[in-house]
Amino acid sequence: MALKRLDRLLGDLGVATRSELRQIIRSGRVRVDGAVVTQPEKKFDGSACDIELDGQSLTWREKRTFMMDKPAGVLSVTEDSRQRTVFDVLPPQLGRMGLAPVGRLDKDTSGLLLLTNDGELAHRIISPKSAIPKRYLAEVEGEPDAEDVRAFREGLTLADGTRCLPAELEPLGEGRCLVTVMEGKYHQVKRMLAARGKPVKALRRLSVGGLELGESLGPGGFRELNEEDLCKVLHTGSIGK
Ligand code: URA
Repeated sequence: MALKRLDRLLGDLGVATRSELRQIIRSGRVRVDGAVVTQPEKKFDGSACDIELDGQSLTWREKRTFMMDKPAGVLSVTEDSRQRTVFDVLPPQLGRMGLAPVGRLDKDTSGLLLLTNDGELAHRIISPKSAIPKRYLAEVEGEPDAEDVRAFREGLTLADGTRCLPAELEPLGEGRCLVTVMEGKYHQVKRMLAARGKPVKALRRLSVGGLELGESLGPGGFRELNEEDLCKVLHTGSIGK
């Protein structure tokens, strides 16, 4: 890995702002490989040295990936001059790690959103070639039925002629259904259900690959993914086989 300034290395870890870090380093609170370093501009290879802050070792991880329970009402983008984004909901240290949302959820969609600074991983997750299933809970007008299930399984054609890959629809009753899609076209789930005359009233993403959102995070909650979680995300599935 390339050498990086110490204040930058710590900034990438989300420890504090760059200006706070310069103070912290100058005051002698940071050790690199056991020796106190007081020059923020001194460069190190973060992957090959042991950095401590106040005696606590900071595990160096260049690539970081988080999941969050995106609340409805915020944009899944890194910044917007007028509207609130997921980074306005998350603690500031996450905003300093160079994370970006992996794909998008609509402003009014809630649920599992991945955020990473690993561009290659993001590409693998988004790429249609990876065929990673994404499961949603939809609340719709009307009641999805067996005909809708069949139409989803065969691959729908949207109002504008767009062809969709086969998808899974599981009616749950009371105007609710589970939808699993292997692709990520613009407003895909809403447009698929609208094409069947079942407009979406609320949409929540429950899983990406084998990674489930669960209930424990709560709206705006987040956690970092470990290797096992990432394997679950990249697990590829199939529909209708
Ligand atoms: N499909 C949609 O229509 N909206 C989303 O946010 C995600 C999938």
